[in-house]
Amino acid sequence: MRAKVFTGIVILMLSLPVFVWAAGHGDDRPFKKGILLVTFGTSIPEAQISFKNIDTKVKETFKGVDVRWAYTSAIIRHKLAKENRENLDSVAMALAKMMDEGFTYVVIQSLHTIRGEEYDDLVNTANAFKHIPNGFKGVVVGNPLLSSQEDIERVAKAIISAIPEKRKKKEAVVLMGHGTPHPANAFYAALMFNLQQMDPNIFIGTVEGSPGIDDIKKMLKGKKIKKVYLMPFMSVAGDHARNDMAGNEADSWKSILTESGIKCNVVLKGTAENDKMVAIWIDHLKAADSHFNKCPHKK
Ligand code: CO
Repeated sequence: MRAKVFTGIVILMLSLPVFVWAAGHGDDRPFKKGILLVTFGTSIPEAQISFKNIDTKVKETFKGVDVRWAYTSAIIRHKLAKENRENLDSVAMALAKMMDEGFTYVVIQSLHTIRGEEYDDLVNTANAFKHIPNGFKGVVVGNPLLSSQEDIERVAKAIISAIPEKRKKKEAVVLMGHGTPHPANAFYAALMFNLQQMDPNIFIGTVEGSPGIDDIKKMLKGKKIKKVYLMPFMSVAGDHARNDMAGNEADSWKSILTESGIKCNVVLKGTAENDKMVAIWIDHLKAADSHFNKCPHKK
């Protein structure tokens, strides 16, 4: 099992930031660079704290560079627009606007946790933009949070630093990841393996992938755990964290574990509220940005 997980990880790690060169012959437009931060999005106002934190840190790191946002979730964008709360762009809309405004280089940073389906879609959209005449001279996509063994170890340490101090070692910490049928789902198991080397009572389950809450419950029961801290392992403490993890419905993780005799303490904080975690995304953004230094068309 471990061998399989690690073979999977090695294959995944071969993927580097995706860089797209665009044709630039005879093009003397001035150098204008922008950053586009891309997330699934959230419609929960309290969860916005995560995005505000990233926005501030990115602007501190890249002073004077225009920073834009795009939400990949059409449902969330339409909901926010319908309720007159915000008009957010999709990736394609945000890139089209930047192109129209004369940006020549765009560093896109994925704020996803793993390089799953949404990350693949983001790369495909970025690639599509290189074929537009008189468009961008360069577009680069920065890696999501978990993209290498080094990331896994940094993320594990960041998670441990966010565990409430009052938690005792015999009490467990159960993280809720999103999960996906995409092969990148293997990152959750790899991260759990690394976490448990440091602290054997930390577990990661997922809402939509494997391992699920039933698998986690079995592991907790096997170790006779009586109390857990439930924490989201998603950038925002949004709908999944508030309902599927901490909600009062019978099928929430809190209800399932409580029902089986395990006490639950809920921590409603997204990973993007954790500065150690944000530092990893920022390092990926810096790595992506550094590709432009090699750019032959850069002015
Ligand atoms: Co979901």
